[in-house]
Amino acid sequence: MSEAIHPVPEAWAKNALINADRYAELYRQSVEDPDGFWRQEAQRLDWLTPFTRVQRTSFDEADFGIRWFEDGALNIAANCLDRHLAVRGDAIAILWESDDPSEPERRISYRQLHAEVCRFANLLKARGVGRGDRVTLYLPMVPEAAVAMLACARIGAIHSIVFAGFSPDALAGRILDCGSRLVVTADEGLRGGRRVPLKANVDEALTHCRDVDSVIVLRRTGADVAMQAGRDVDWHEGVASQPAECPPEAMNAEDPLFILYTSGSTGKPKGVLHTTGGYAVWASMTHQYVFDYRPGQIFWCAADIGWVTGHSYVVYGPLINGATTVMFEGVPNWPDPSRFWQVVDKFGVEIFYGAPTALRALMREGDHWVQKTRRSSLRLLGSVGEPINPEAWEWYHRVVGEGRCPIVDTWWQTETGAAMITPLPGATDLKPGSASKPMFGVAPQLVDSEGKVLEGATEGCLVLTQSWPGQMRGVWGDPERFFQTYFTTFPGKYFTGDGCRRDADGYYWITGRIDDVINVSGHRMGTAEIESALVAHEAVAEAAVVGMPHAIKGQGIYAYVTTNAEVEPDEALRRALVQWVRHEIGPIATPDVIQFAPGLPKTRSGKIMRRILRKIAENETSNLGDISTLADPSVVATLIADRPQLA
Ligand code: PRX
Repeated sequence: MSEAIHPVPEAWAKNALINADRYAELYRQSVEDPDGFWRQEAQRLDWLTPFTRVQRTSFDEADFGIRWFEDGALNIAANCLDRHLAVRGDAIAILWESDDPSEPERRISYRQLHAEVCRFANLLKARGVGRGDRVTLYLPMVPEAAVAMLACARIGAIHSIVFAGFSPDALAGRILDCGSRLVVTADEGLRGGRRVPLKANVDEALTHCRDVDSVIVLRRTGADVAMQAGRDVDWHEGVASQPAECPPEAMNAEDPLFILYTSGSTGKPKGVLHTTGGYAVWASMTHQYVFDYRPGQIFWCAADIGWVTGHSYVVYGPLINGATTVMFEGVPNWPDPSRFWQVVDKFGVEIFYGAPTALRALMREGDHWVQKTRRSSLRLLGSVGEPINPEAWEWYHRVVGEGRCPIVDTWWQTETGAAMITPLPGATDLKPGSASKPMFGVAPQLVDSEGKVLEGATEGCLVLTQSWPGQMRGVWGDPERFFQTYFTTFPGKYFTGDGCRRDADGYYWITGRIDDVINVSGHRMGTAEIESALVAHEAVAEAAVVGMPHAIKGQGIYAYVTTNAEVEPDEALRRALVQWVRHEIGPIATPDVIQFAPGLPKTRSGKIMRRILRKIAENETSNLGDISTLADPSVVATLIADRPQLA
């Protein structure tokens, strides 16, 4: 790993909201006197009923619970909209860029957004949606996605966004799990010049979801789609008759705000539940400090709203802070690899926040795609979703930012709500590849596999010992699973699932997942999920999926497949299985390699030895460790001999 250091630029140290001394002082306060610290930070919101109690949190089994600001009431949509109207009603809230560069941008002011949200909230109510009801959103990256989220929040409904790249089956599973009765979608999505049949996917999904009685359909491309009378409503026709005023519901701080499904070690994605008050404080505070955000600046987080990054840094964090947030419908390399930087120039983007996988892909295309744009507006860059390799970091810094922009490499998770370990641009000297230091209120610890706390420069499992306001509050519909998944591996501590190194300067270096989760292009996939999709195919007897290093995606998907006895595996079957997984889960789960395996390495008790499969996938076969405990050690030699030669 590179140990280069980029010191805080002088101008940043002088002008940033938080410099090094201030960071040290506030961090100490945040962990030594959390109640005092958070009582103060929570004043950034408008509360309808002020809270008196800051937190009641415990990670111990006996009195387990996570509650923040629990006797306060607020409405997060009102914090994103209403309170800005008097001071910046005509300022731009959302700057939208189409997938198609020839389509005009949209500029939506806070006042317009407020009216749209109220109308849509009234439409939801007219369809019978109220407090606590779940609403599934399956939408492209258009301003209406933010409108739908905020409309749910305004009336106290819980949104569950399903990334529009997921298959009808994956969508159906998520609708059923949270019991939504209403789905919001579009006729089609548009990505990289290709159309995505969203409404058709919803129709297919709904053949499994009998309880859905309303589908609101946004016209995005104008494609001719089937509309089911009584059930399906055209968005614009639906809102036309609705008033542009809708009083925000007073929500308790601990009332649910959203559910977002994410992958874990087990087969079924879990519905991560976030609540209102703590999440709002956490999203807003981190957006302000991590990005040194000042009102009026143009902020662009290039994530899709289908992921947590889009929730916290396209919508909630920026809008609570009265920012102008850029929403981009397209992809980084279409129509050509300078698209991101063209959009930066077009809007005068000052802060850009993206994923390492996109940077690696763009880096490969050559510097001239970047250099043909000006990027003179950029002052700060961010990275999120997976470890950023030092080469990509240096390229981002030198070529995109022309050496002038600090890079904040933010480590966090769907479960943590917002950024947890991250540099602050005016406070932290940067080390490429390190997420660096904990955010206020975050208490990281490294432990060994027995839970022994490791001190100083060391490497171990990353745990967090204190609660923070944006922490997830539960797994939807499965309260036991929350405690089981996160708090039993190391009792009394939140286990992140990540491995991590800490250097002599106290910098944290995330080394990647140590559970059966892989990170493909910054998207989290459970190996068990892909395995269950594979074994659902009639030709497959058994499957084992592991991650493998991938130059662009970070990790690729490597699947070992044992076919049924009567099936002769061939190229046609390999292709069919790739298609099958895409159809079952979605294109993001496309296997990079399928290796047919006559047998898998198993212990005598039948447990698959993934450690060995990982090594073979990584082509690290010289040091496989002890294989003598396998039921049939000879399968290993066969797997090595049959390993496909990868480019
Ligand atoms: O392994 C870590 C990796 O992504 C995981 C969380 O994925 P997800 O819930 O989809 O959230 C992604 C967006 C916040 C983590 O457990 N990860 C995320 N950010 C980083 C990272 N790994 C290294 N460095 C990061 N900056």
